[in-house]
Amino acid sequence: MALEAQSAAIVAQFDYTDEQVNSAVNEFRRQMTEGLEKDGTSLSQIPTYVTGVPNGTEKGLYMAVDLGGTNFRVCSIQLNGDTTFNLTFSKVAIPRKLMVAKTAQELFAFLAKQIELFLQTHHEDHFEQHVRRRMTMSSPDGYKDEHVFRLGFTFSFPVQQVGINKGTLIRWTKGFDIPDAIGKDVCALLQNEIDKLHLPVKVAALVNDTVGTLMARSYSSPGKTGTVLGAIFGTGTNGAYVEKLSNLKKPLSGEYDKTTGEMVINTEWGSFDNQLSVLPNTAWDVALDKASPNPGIQMYEKRVSGMFLGEILRLVIIDLLKDPKVSFFKDENSSSNDWKSTTNIVSDSSIYTQWGVDTAIMSVAAADNTPELSTLRGELEKQLDICSAGLDDAQAFKAIANAIGRRSARLSAVAIAAIVLQTGKLTDSANADEPIDIGVDGSLVEHYPYFRDMIYEALRTIDGIGEEGAKRIRIGIAKDGSGVGAALIALVAAGMEERLTTADYLGELRSNAKSNNLTVVPEDGETAAQD
Ligand code: BGC
Repeated sequence: MALEAQSAAIVAQFDYTDEQVNSAVNEFRRQMTEGLEKDGTSLSQIPTYVTGVPNGTEKGLYMAVDLGGTNFRVCSIQLNGDTTFNLTFSKVAIPRKLMVAKTAQELFAFLAKQIELFLQTHHEDHFEQHVRRRMTMSSPDGYKDEHVFRLGFTFSFPVQQVGINKGTLIRWTKGFDIPDAIGKDVCALLQNEIDKLHLPVKVAALVNDTVGTLMARSYSSPGKTGTVLGAIFGTGTNGAYVEKLSNLKKPLSGEYDKTTGEMVINTEWGSFDNQLSVLPNTAWDVALDKASPNPGIQMYEKRVSGMFLGEILRLVIIDLLKDPKVSFFKDENSSSNDWKSTTNIVSDSSIYTQWGVDTAIMSVAAADNTPELSTLRGELEKQLDICSAGLDDAQAFKAIANAIGRRSARLSAVAIAAIVLQTGKLTDSANADEPIDIGVDGSLVEHYPYFRDMIYEALRTIDGIGEEGAKRIRIGIAKDGSGVGAALIALVAAGMEERLTTADYLGELRSNAKSNNLTVVPEDGETAAQD
């Protein structure tokens, strides 16, 4: 009974009420505006130099690589021009020692090597031809540009972007920490290593995964008004949305097309409210932050995303294990355990190690509705070496895990709501019957049971959205956005390279689209009309 009461008290600490959600939305909007006006703010609001979203008619073969979490992916994407594409990819786990390497060069050399392996495996003809050409050329740089793959580089960390394929790293997140890379142009770092291997690849575009998700969703599910937000709820969290250029007050240094009147903004919302004016802050949030490689930053991400939820849960569990008033994962004797055994936690269980609880076990807990919670109890044994846990222990574990997951979903609703309200689409009578389309990706939103339902539940309680507004918001999974989206941006960049100005290039896209009865990007004062 003591355990039940204690776990209920803990659960209550993770409540995030409707009122708190509403005041966080207001604060989010305030911080959005602040970030559009100046640099160095909590929400970075990074201009991406991408000034339109695709409409599904784009075509061509491109490459994309994706660095941003636990894995590095290399892909080639054939855009078929009819909203479909074909994707080939390889994936490799990033060795932990490279995430904290001494020099950026070590990490980027590894990435270039993976690109070489991918080309050898999946584009052998192209690769062999290239090697032959190179061997017969007097100058190694003499081969023709058209044989070179354009590559979109999805780099999912905060970057100060100064052009479509140029940007310097602001800070690492998600467990990466290579101080040497801060302030360096990450495209140049990758291109250098690619060139050392003499690969036929040009880094044409620098893309955040959220921007890729936005582009991919727009390509594959075009609607009358286009997708407004691409968001990731995975290892990390972030969102990119389409903003009016007139709201972007801080100076922009690079070239971009002004005719669309819009630009995609990478919010870097992981650092929303680093000052903690509206974010919840339990003792476990404080402990997690203190022991993290980046205390005081990514405070929203540390309460929302997959990398951190398991760790919050672990810290709560450790406190409960130490609490003399409760009997948690321990039995006086086998009679107090419904499986008539005694619980044992193996001494080197990963529950005792920082990051030792994978957030995936929270999905198991949320999904297990069996009377004895036997699936969860099986996973406790398999993943955490907690053997023969009793039903009451598993119930407490589940209740606490669910509370942490629910708080994450409600916080996620805050960012989504603030951006939907910012776009003004809910009050735009011209498109009153159109859905407000949002593309999402990431392990949490994809695999955590009822994550989207909990987001919708919170959205309905938000002023300015309500029941009716929530019905219009369509949150759909955009899988592999970082690959396809990066390819789409590489395509835009390739168009820019062909000595077309961006304006001409987008003008061409528009006229192609018009001949297909579609509009790719709104012209000044015009709303995108697609079917
Ligand atoms: C990074 C973002 C990224 C997000 C999702 C965050 O930690 O700062 O750039 O978009 O993770 O991958």
